[in-house]
Amino acid sequence: MRKNIVAGNWKMNKNLQEGIALAKELNEALIADKPNCDVVICTPFIHLASVTPIVDSAIIGVGAENCADKVSGAYTGEVSAEMVASTGAQYVILGHSERRSYYGETVEILEEKVKLALANNLTPIFCIGEVLEERQAEKQNEVVAAQLASVFTLSAEDFGKIVLAYEPVWAIGTGLTATPEQAQDIHAYIRSLIAEKYGQEVADNCSILYGGSCKPSNAKELFAKPDVDGGLIGGAALKVSDFKGIIDAFK
Ligand code: 13P
Repeated sequence: MRKNIVAGNWKMNKNLQEGIALAKELNEALIADKPNCDVVICTPFIHLASVTPIVDSAIIGVGAENCADKVSGAYTGEVSAEMVASTGAQYVILGHSERRSYYGETVEILEEKVKLALANNLTPIFCIGEVLEERQAEKQNEVVAAQLASVFTLSAEDFGKIVLAYEPVWAIGTGLTATPEQAQDIHAYIRSLIAEKYGQEVADNCSILYGGSCKPSNAKELFAKPDVDGGLIGGAALKVSDFKGIIDAFK
């Protein structure tokens, strides 16, 4: 059966020293009080090689927030999936709405990134979600269906290795959260699309995380929904007490 996962996305926050301190503090807190779900922290690239050796890999997985859509070569400033994996990281967030909107990442570019991540044994945490105008026009289902095209060219075996995150853009960093019912409705729809494409077993085994202003006070209600398998956490992942409060929603 699918895993419950709470993943942090640090975004462009914390310098190296602050990031190391945050990872150490989280590691100590989770060793003292073991989580009932998988826990992942996705950090800026430069933190990865320092953070992976200081966390207990049986408790905390580490991931990047992006990787290049090319294997290697003359792509100044880019970081490849192979480089990410060489730090000991096991995950990579791909398709975050901030990457799609600020850096022009398309369905096709993301398809390449997902394939390269998988080829390097990284687990993609693939993000989908609609903007406010699309939600107001009740187009959210169409939007996520179109975004899934990046991962629906995978074999069933490869699709089975990815994690999905539904993040309504209107809920990211805004303090507005999708209601548990809104999250459940679209997660169930996403799972139905997976079942149509790959069959019920693959759909049942796919973890679908919710992201967007998730906090200790709303995590339990959201994660209690049958198709919500955990969260992708931004702001609340930057403070151990908040992040652990969300992790503890599975207790
Ligand atoms: P917030 O939790 O800060 O709303 O961010 C969510 C997010 O974008 C995680 O990827």
